[in-house]
Amino acid sequence: MKKLLFACTLCIGWANIFAQSPLYIPPTITSETINLTLQEGTTTFYEGIETNTMGANGSLLGPTLILQRGNTVSITVDNQLPDTTTIHWHGMHVAPQNDGGPHSIILPDEIWTPSFEIMDQAGINWYHPHLHMKTGEHVSKGIAGLIIVKDDEEAALELPRTYGVDDFPIILQTKGFDADGQIIFHTNLDTSVMVNGTVKPFVEFPAQVVRMRVLNGSSQRVMELGFSDNRTFQIIGTDGGLLEDPVGLERYRIAPGQRADILVDLSASLGDNIQLMSYASELPNAIYGATQPGMGAGMTGSLIGYSSNPLNGSDYEFMDITVGAATVDPILTIPATLISHSPPIEGTEDISRTLTFTQTVMGDLNGPFKINGATFDMDVLNYTVPLDNIEIWTLTNQTPIAHPFHIHDVQFYILEINGSSPPPELSGLNDVVLVPGAMGSVKFIAQFNDFANDTIPYMYHCHMLPHEDMGMMGQFIVSAGTSGITSDEHNKAFSIYPNPSNNGKFKLDWTASYAKPNSYQITTLDGKIIIDSEIPEMNDTSLEIPFSAPGTYLVTLVLDQSNITRKVVIF
Ligand code: C2O
Ligand code: CU
Ligand code: CU
Repeated sequence: MKKLLFACTLCIGWANIFAQSPLYIPPTITSETINLTLQEGTTTFYEGIETNTMGANGSLLGPTLILQRGNTVSITVDNQLPDTTTIHWHGMHVAPQNDGGPHSIILPDEIWTPSFEIMDQAGINWYHPHLHMKTGEHVSKGIAGLIIVKDDEEAALELPRTYGVDDFPIILQTKGFDADGQIIFHTNLDTSVMVNGTVKPFVEFPAQVVRMRVLNGSSQRVMELGFSDNRTFQIIGTDGGLLEDPVGLERYRIAPGQRADILVDLSASLGDNIQLMSYASELPNAIYGATQPGMGAGMTGSLIGYSSNPLNGSDYEFMDITVGAATVDPILTIPATLISHSPPIEGTEDISRTLTFTQTVMGDLNGPFKINGATFDMDVLNYTVPLDNIEIWTLTNQTPIAHPFHIHDVQFYILEINGSSPPPELSGLNDVVLVPGAMGSVKFIAQFNDFANDTIPYMYHCHMLPHEDMGMMGQFIVSAGTSGITSDEHNKAFSIYPNPSNNGKFKLDWTASYAKPNSYQITTLDGKIIIDSEIPEMNDTSLEIPFSAPGTYLVTLVLDQSNITRKVVIF
């Protein structure tokens, strides 16, 4: 076989000589019993070349899971790869033991059988491997699948929802190939553009309102989506489900890990030929995908290979769309309103946490990047979140490049991006947010409901897979009690003991170096305040609280900057 120069600036032009292929539409699984077999195989991305790939129930990608809120699914993941891996249900609100993070490994030839109730709102999630230091490899080689969640609220709206007919899975990816046509990962030479694993795809959309369930499944690349005729499309949902109202846009920026539920009205476009594009020339600098990865004039950054990647800063095509005849009973209008949201209100938070992104070598845009000065350690718990806590997380990015921050377990509401309210298309629920580079910041609020587990943590991390694999990740447990380990500095500074207490009193203790709490409150689990008391100035760093009625209570310490809430049990 002749060797082809994939990893070169000529690749894109070279790839263009190939004929288009029909867009691959992954099969669906709609049953509550889901069997996924992870396997190796080969895929022909380019004519005459067999590329070694990985997939679920096939050699590339995986079936689309269509799940109904309220149902309980039983999943079997059979690992037939020659490698240990995990499978994470990105975006799904599930217990830590079902989440498939780096602690839930599946050895080769073993099976993993999570089972959980679908508690999520209708929306678009996805699944992918999550083994520490191997996520980039396993995802780049092909394992990823969409999850479409349905619910009654969404079903009541007049929306396209016939899979592959007026409702299309659109997994956007760029991949790097070596000279032998094999996939390379952790690379800046992701020169191949594909949708659902199809390079240069074409598809026929019917002349009516068409829905695109878009996932950016790339390992690093941020895209600036738009149509070649600059038509307006409607964003109806993001990561965590539907927005309150559709938002009409000509461009939509989507970062790795993010999803977008998009409607495009083609009812007056019969016979048109349009392209789905990434207008990367319009991406501001300091974003992976823009002309300059780094900030500031003259700063070209040191991303190896970055400047020779022809996709950076240029407009490129994802998919060629021809508009054909409408279906029977087409959807021809876009609803004016969708669902309502009631986000937790700023000020009701139990705690605020600050996460700062830094890098080891200033100006090295390849990283490694750190969160709060540390790289990921499987054995270190970075936070203990009390069950049901409402928390504000402020992310500050001291590196020159934007990072898509992702958190497991919860969907959050963005309060601020660079100090301003988010645009309407980012006002819904999200689990990934692109934190702007060069001192950019994002503030979000979320509530950590339903699932507590003192040993299996949830992850938070940058969804650029090379960054994540190199340790731009941390972990937290959600704890229903106070026996959990609290390595978080803020939490660590306080203790309540004995807990549980059987002698009719307990003590609050804080380290001398940390500010004394101003007051404390004891409330019942349903919110009734039993004690609300100032803590006087004193030399002691501990206070004894006599309190004898048996039960489970929440003790809140009120500090200058934030509150800390712990559960305490008296018996
Ligand atoms: Cu999409 Cu922690 O992952
Ligand atoms: Cu996730
Ligand atoms: Cu990153």
